Amino acid sequence: MALLIICLVIAFIAIVYAVGQKIYNEQKIKRGQRSLAGKVVVITGSSSGIGESLAHKFYESGCKVILAARRVGELERVRRDLLNTKLNNGIQTIRPEIIQLDLDESTQIIEKANQILSASPQIDILINNAGVSMISGARAVKPEVDTRVMNINYFGTIAFTKAFLPSMIERKQGTIVFVSSIVGRFAAPYCSSYTASKHALQAFADCLRSEISKDNVRVMVSSPGFVKTDIIKNALTGGGTTYGVSNRQIESGQTPEDCANDIYRAVLRGDKEVVPLKYAGVICLRNVLPAIYFRIMERRARVFEQRNKVAHIV
Ligand SMILES: NC(=O)c1ccc[n+]([C@@H]2O[C@H](COP(=O)([O-])OP(=O)(O)OC[C@H]3O[C@@H](n4cnc5c(N)ncnc54)[C@H](OP(=O)(O)O)[C@@H]3O)[C@@H](O)[C@H]2O)c1
Repeated sequence: MALLIICLVIAFIAIVYAVGQKIYNEQKIKRGQRSLAGKVVVITGSSSGIGESLAHKFYESGCKVILAARRVGELERVRRDLLNTKLNNGIQTIRPEIIQLDLDESTQIIEKANQILSASPQIDILINNAGVSMISGARAVKPEVDTRVMNINYFGTIAFTKAFLPSMIERKQGTIVFVSSIVGRFAAPYCSSYTASKHALQAFADCLRSEISKDNVRVMVSSPGFVKTDIIKNALTGGGTTYGVSNRQIESGQTPEDCANDIYRAVLRGDKEVVPLKYAGVICLRNVLPAIYFRIMERRARVFEQRNKVAHIV
């Protein structure tokens, strides 16, 4: 009981501190003291969804955006859309660049990062947004699918990140954003390797932040809930095929524009994380009262099985 009270008091102080800091920084943004105009921003996974919306947000704020993903045709479409955007806020825009990047190809990741650095040696913001989801019962996932999800969401992402660190540390300036997921904070059933990859990303980011804070390089983790994109349609099944259909939670989720706006404002404020408030209770339960959290997740697994005719995913 005493432990619970101490945890609640600490949680209360942390919330008051975080909200106070957010209000202070929002005031600064409103007074125009913070702007990202002219900054160079690399955005992985910018050929669709949240990454595409991030590209619009940063481009419209006067940043030079470097768009990275596998589908060059889609990146060209995004660049055309950006160049056709009519702005009447007087902000000077900068032509976006494109680079093809496959985070599952470990041999080319450093080469691609160096290609970006030789064209634009001063990268101010790196947004690690690219990712792939996975839907299947854990025991039915082929090892090569687990590996692929970890490669794209974790190993490829951290290798890409490390390539930009020396120049940021040398300049004593930079922001690294990881677009994780709320399942990087607590595990949900039927997406084991996706959840594991996002937990790994969260842990890596927390370590890195503490190590490079002295070099004035910021690390931020965004942990969105459900966002209305093709993430579930593009998800891998346990056998490695594409899942192909979306689901009700994604379709009724936050818009990618709103999610991108949350991330953009958090970068402007210099936040360390973006976590939707509505999940604070579950995160707290996982850490303070795990027994209750385990029961909730067991029930969630049963509901998921009924809704998704589980025969084809386990
Ligand atoms: N939508 C949600 O509900 C939600 C919730 C929490 C977190 N997230 C996270 O948000 C991020 C963006 O996802 P999204 O929702 O916008 O879904 P999305 O539309 O499917 O976007 C995924 C992006 O990742 C890129 N990508 C996939 N595999 C890649 C690879 N091997 N190498 C390089 N790029 C790759 C894709 O581009 P190409 O196919 O062109 O390579 C695409 O641009 C992901 O990290 C996801 O985990 C999404």
